[in-house]
Amino acid sequence: MIREMKRLLQGALLLWTLSLNPVRCSVPRQVTWSDKHFGPDGPWQAVTVSMGSNYSELVVSSSILALYPGGSWESKILLSSICDNKTLSSVCYGNIAGLFDSDISVTFDNHSIEMPPDGTWGDVDWGFADAVPVHAKATRATDWITIEGASVPDVDLITISAGWQTYPGGQVYPLEVGILSLGSPDINQTFGAVIKINTTFVTSYFYEQEGSLNIPSYSYGMHIGSASLGIPGSLLLGGYDENRVIGDVSAQAFSSGSFPIELFDLSIGVAEGGSPWNFPNKTGLLAQGNSSLASGLSVIVDPANPYLYLPQSTCDAIAAELPVTYQPDYGLYFWNTSDSQYSTITTSPSYLAFSFSKNNLNNEDITIKVPFALLNLTLEAPLVNTSTQYFPCMATNSTPVLGRAFLQAAFIGVNWLGGKWFLAQAPGPDGSFIVDTMTIGDNDSTVPGTSNSWEDTWKNSWKVIATKSTTNPTSTSTTTDPQTSSSTDSKGLSTGVRTGIIVGSIVGGVSIIALFCVLCIRRRRQKIRAQDRAKQSHIDQGSSTQQLEPVEAPNSVWDQYNELQSEPRYEIGGERGPFYELGPEKGAIRGLDQGTEVQHGDVFELPERTSILSSSNVI
Ligand SMILES: *[C@@H]1O[C@H](CO)[C@@H](O)[C@H](O)[C@H]1NC(C)=O
Ligand SMILES: *[C@@H]1O[C@H](CO)[C@@H](O)[C@H](O)[C@H]1NC(C)=O
Ligand SMILES: *[C@@H]1O[C@H](CO)[C@@H](O)[C@H](O)[C@H]1NC(C)=O
Ligand SMILES: *[C@@H]1O[C@H](CO)[C@@H](O)[C@H](O)[C@H]1NC(C)=O
Ligand SMILES: *[C@@H]1O[C@H](CO)[C@@H](O)[C@H](O)[C@H]1NC(C)=O
Ligand SMILES: *[C@@H]1O[C@H](CO)[C@@H](O)[C@H](O)[C@H]1NC(C)=O
Ligand SMILES: *[C@@H]1O[C@H](CO)[C@@H](O)[C@H](O)[C@H]1NC(C)=O
Ligand SMILES: *[C@@H]1O[C@H](CO)[C@@H](O)[C@H](O)[C@H]1NC(C)=O
Ligand SMILES: *[C@@H]1O[C@H](CO)[C@@H](O)[C@H](O)[C@H]1NC(C)=O
Ligand SMILES: *[C@@H]1O[C@H](CO)[C@@H](O)[C@H](O)[C@H]1NC(C)=O
Ligand SMILES: *[C@@H]1O[C@H](CO)[C@@H](O)[C@H](O)[C@H]1NC(C)=O
Repeated sequence: MIREMKRLLQGALLLWTLSLNPVRCSVPRQVTWSDKHFGPDGPWQAVTVSMGSNYSELVVSSSILALYPGGSWESKILLSSICDNKTLSSVCYGNIAGLFDSDISVTFDNHSIEMPPDGTWGDVDWGFADAVPVHAKATRATDWITIEGASVPDVDLITISAGWQTYPGGQVYPLEVGILSLGSPDINQTFGAVIKINTTFVTSYFYEQEGSLNIPSYSYGMHIGSASLGIPGSLLLGGYDENRVIGDVSAQAFSSGSFPIELFDLSIGVAEGGSPWNFPNKTGLLAQGNSSLASGLSVIVDPANPYLYLPQSTCDAIAAELPVTYQPDYGLYFWNTSDSQYSTITTSPSYLAFSFSKNNLNNEDITIKVPFALLNLTLEAPLVNTSTQYFPCMATNSTPVLGRAFLQAAFIGVNWLGGKWFLAQAPGPDGSFIVDTMTIGDNDSTVPGTSNSWEDTWKNSWKVIATKSTTNPTSTSTTTDPQTSSSTDSKGLSTGVRTGIIVGSIVGGVSIIALFCVLCIRRRRQKIRAQDRAKQSHIDQGSSTQQLEPVEAPNSVWDQYNELQSEPRYEIGGERGPFYELGPEKGAIRGLDQGTEVQHGDVFELPERTSILSSSNVI
């Protein structure tokens, strides 16, 4: 009933904003996911964007690319030339997600930013994990990215024209899918000391837009889901889908573009019924092989990396409970699919639980459960000749990172200007995937979740193991459909009561609309203030080398961060490094930027082209 009322109100609000619309309140934007799945270590889901722009029959068209969403700072874009090296691979795996042909884009600019990487070979950051380093010929660039028909100019890019990744055994493999950055603590990443070149991010640009295209805050909410188990991906800019957030939410400070959190422990458990093991649960796996980890471990949660990058002793402690064998060539564990324990574990309600410091407090925790069904991932060509099921723990001596394998079961979000990032349990395959859009406000320092039962979102998908006691295991599989159970609370009410509630909610709705209107105007004012703040801070930074202090980051994470920074890595070094002076010939760039400024009006289609024309004149 509450849900119905909410929908009714939402509908009324939408109608009202569309018809009267004196304020043009912004709404979150949904990003579309590709219907293809990607590897070679997934299957993973990715979002689709249009990259670049050209003139074909007066319509701006471009390359359609699938990208793994969730990077920060620069987006990593693979160019068509990545497949030129046939020694590395005779098959062009990058074609599955799509490669960017920069030659056909009239807005592509790979020369204005004169900072490394500048087209020479080097190690390129690929997320925050470095256990599988990427060596590539990379260049700083900017171009347009179009998401759901809305174009963003001057997107901050690192384009890769050739390169590979090296697995722990030393074998090299091609790169297959690029990364879409969803922002940074800055509105724009600015290069140059005298003439500033502003590069932007899809999230910050939509936030700065006026009119119906803008989003309520510089933020996003995401659940990448699972391709093999049919959990669709969810990505909203400026908001999130409430159905993807189950139970408590932990909100903590980010550090530059990374999402650090303190991992207290790892454990194995079973949500219901019997256990595949001779114990019902096992805690202490994080520190089992190394007691100095008993005080916890700072990890970074990163959608740009695939695996769980943990200390060797921790991976081994988990693996010891599973029918897996360590494969030194890959640094990963292969499931022994002929062992009956394999299917017992991966189909049962058993999970690997990650317990974290909640809200960065030492005495509160939040647990994210990742069912082993999600940790039955597949290695494919070119990594292996025949598809192989693997367990995604990879030993690392440097920064521990929880990548996509973990994020299949977790909701992640951030409010870049609000200073916090969010982590919560996400639903399983039987969750409601009807999008329940929630706005993230400018200053929001947390997001509310649902009180839905996590177990209910898995009940139809896992096979409960009979307990040794007398309970009947089949009774657990005949659970109520979660779709219907969400509306059961209204069934008991009589029509009269219902009508009353609906009438009441309409009357209430009108007053809420009025309130909404006031809040809307206020929010816009606050937003303008927030923008001014952002601009101010940018100017303040000037050419200083240290840009952002982490907000309330735990010391250990900050130390780790300094370690990261001290390494000569392009991505992190780039935005912090000294702002380079630009040569006098770069005066032309000013013209280009003025061109793009034109399209800040309310009408979008026309100025877009005008700006392309003006920028092409410059090129
Ligand atoms: C092609 O890839 C191989 C294998 O990684 C590498 O040794 C070689 O240098 C590459 N060739 C070029 C021209 O990049
Ligand atoms: C523009 O892009 C489309 C789609 O990528 C392509 O088919 C067309 O050939 C391009 N036009 C030009 C002039 O490059
Ligand atoms: C810049 O892009 C052009 C056209 O795509 C290409 O020919 C050139 O090699 C690129 N330069 C660098 C430094 O990557
Ligand atoms: C960010 O960059 C975009 C595109 O260059 C520009 O339109 C916008 O004004 C910039 N915003 C700030 C706060 O610098
Ligand atoms: C880039 O951003 C800075 C700071 O927001 C602003 O002062 C400057 O005018 C912008 N430059 C261009 C070319 O848009
Ligand atoms: C773990 O197992 C013990 C019995 O060994 C039980 O008392 C405890 O409640 C279990 N904890 C959880 C979270 O299931
Ligand atoms: C145990 O963990 C600590 C802290 O992470 C680390 O410095 C040390 O090298 C580890 N010891 C072993 C034997 O792995
Ligand atoms: C896989 O499991 C089967 C059945 O338990 C066993 O016979 C075999 O030795 C195992 N293989 C490996 C590599 O452990
Ligand atoms: C493991 O994953 C593969 C690929 O998605 C799937 O075909 C297989 O059924 C899964 N195994 C189990 C036991 O669930
Ligand atoms: C795949 O098969 C080829 C040819 O048999 C072999 O050279 C190569 O080493 C194999 N690759 C892997 C990863 O097993
Ligand atoms: C948001 O933050 C700004 C600056 O700290 C403050 O002026 C404003 O009142 C805040 N808005 C809300 C709704 O708290």
